[in-house]
Amino acid sequence: MKYIQVIALLLLLTNNALATNDVKKGEILYQAYCTQCHGINGDGWGVNAATMDVLPKDHTDTKGMITRTDADIFKAIKEGGKAVSKSNLMPNWDANMTDEEINYLVVYVRTLCCQKGE
Ligand code: HEC
Repeated sequence: MKYIQVIALLLLLTNNALATNDVKKGEILYQAYCTQCHGINGDGWGVNAATMDVLPKDHTDTKGMITRTDADIFKAIKEGGKAVSKSNLMPNWDANMTDEEINYLVVYVRTLCCQKGE
């Protein structure tokens, strides 16, 4: 194998490892902060759901979630439901999370709805 191929392969492997890492970080944040409403599987049936006037979004709903861009999801998390014309029962997390952490969550939410198996 030529050196260039080895380097390309190494880059590819590192890249995949880093991406998986972001998913893991997102999952940890999601389990800590989002599951009480969105459910441990992200299907919208967290413990709070039964008493809420507007149901938390089902993040496993591929048909619905595929229409959202990463920027939409980022904005919903950072600025809250109202900022994306959704219920203000979805809190804004900008005071408690960095943009970097919100990005991990975007990556993780995507795995729930739109990139199954990753
Ligand atoms: C207190 C309950 C609650 C918590 C906690 C919560 N959410 Fe939500 N979330 C909601 C509700 C309610 C909606 C709005 C549903 C609607 O209006 O249709 C929503 C909507 C969203 C949306 C927008 C979905 C869309 O339709 O575009 C995203 C993305 C989202 N939540 C992600 C998160 C993430 C990530 C966390 C954790 C950091 C989180 N939520 C924590 C209740 C919650």
